[in-house]
Amino acid sequence: MSQVLQQLQREQTTSRRRPRLMERFADFLPITTATPPLGLGEGFTPLVHARTLGRAMGVPLLYLKVEGQSPTGSFKDRGMVVAVAKAIEEGTQAIICASTGNTSASAAAYGAAAGIEVVVILPRGKIAAGKLLQAQAAGARVVAVDGNFDDALRVVRELTERPADDRHVTLVNSVNPHRIEGQKTAAFEVCEDLGGAPDYLAIPVGNAGNITAYWRGFSEYRRVGLVETTPRMLGFQAEGAAPLVLGHDVDDPQTVATAIRIGRPASGALALQARDESGGLIDSVSDGEILAAYRDLARHEGIFCEPASAASVAGVRKAAAAGRIDPGATIVAVLTGVGLKDPDTGASLAAPPLDAEPTVEAVRSVLGW
Ligand code: F0G
Repeated sequence: MSQVLQQLQREQTTSRRRPRLMERFADFLPITTATPPLGLGEGFTPLVHARTLGRAMGVPLLYLKVEGQSPTGSFKDRGMVVAVAKAIEEGTQAIICASTGNTSASAAAYGAAAGIEVVVILPRGKIAAGKLLQAQAAGARVVAVDGNFDDALRVVRELTERPADDRHVTLVNSVNPHRIEGQKTAAFEVCEDLGGAPDYLAIPVGNAGNITAYWRGFSEYRRVGLVETTPRMLGFQAEGAAPLVLGHDVDDPQTVATAIRIGRPASGALALQARDESGGLIDSVSDGEILAAYRDLARHEGIFCEPASAASVAGVRKAAAAGRIDPGATIVAVLTGVGLKDPDTGASLAAPPLDAEPTVEAVRSVLGW
């Protein structure tokens, strides 16, 4: 073996193993000695300074929490690992969820790792191709219903509340309290990376589980004295799903932000509480605003997130332009999922490849060099 390889091998055995998320934040999570050590490498996602975009938007201290770098490519993994581990601890045989795609991809992966049955109920025809594939690849049973997310959630709630037999089935949507507990760890990581809480936390809002989780995380770190302040929470819904306060049926599937197009957010009341306690705001952003942020993140920051994720940055741009954000403030925008999940929307950004013969001259010629 070469010396270099030997050195690398030594480094690998002596460097500390990356801790599991549940282990690292055990003091803040509902973990017991009976909780199985589940983990696919969730958490520890990067906080990236969006120098170019932040400056262009008039908020130079804009940071991005890149949750797309999670095992299944979305923030759901933080909460799912806790929900599935607790379900196993409680003796469950199957997990079930309704989803616009990311929850189902995450449930399918953690269910596969835990060796239990996974059933996902999806609104037919409204799931991004990559997300559907993730659930199928992991072997989940996928049921497509003619309806929207709200219909699918109603069905899974009834299925778990009124079981037909003595099967032990656990609901792993964000109404499962363990999901929120796991997801709050993202707020902990933000505080650790910045050395304190940011002034603002901007986040896409669908069912409002994630905004609830971040607010809980920041509040807990302040309560125990690890940070002195908490951020103003800025939640952004997709236009058509908003306003959060009213709740109404959503029927138009033709939108770039299907993942967060939810008429009646399950944790809507908690999101409003987060807004009010933090002195923040909840607003809507249009498809056009979301797509512009989605493209700019890829082109100027090198971060290809999924369209719904870009609602956070679209919202910051809108709020900054309206003078609702202090330009000197530290802002963290959460990018909830990775762009590869949705190749069809991604295609709208893509210029067709240039065709050339495999020669230097031909390639030079099509490049105009
Ligand atoms: N961003 C993405 C990419 C999402 O998939 C979701 C929710 C959200 C943001 C909103 O988070 O619901 O906690 O407010 N997706 C759910 C799903 C509904 O089924 O995957 P929330």
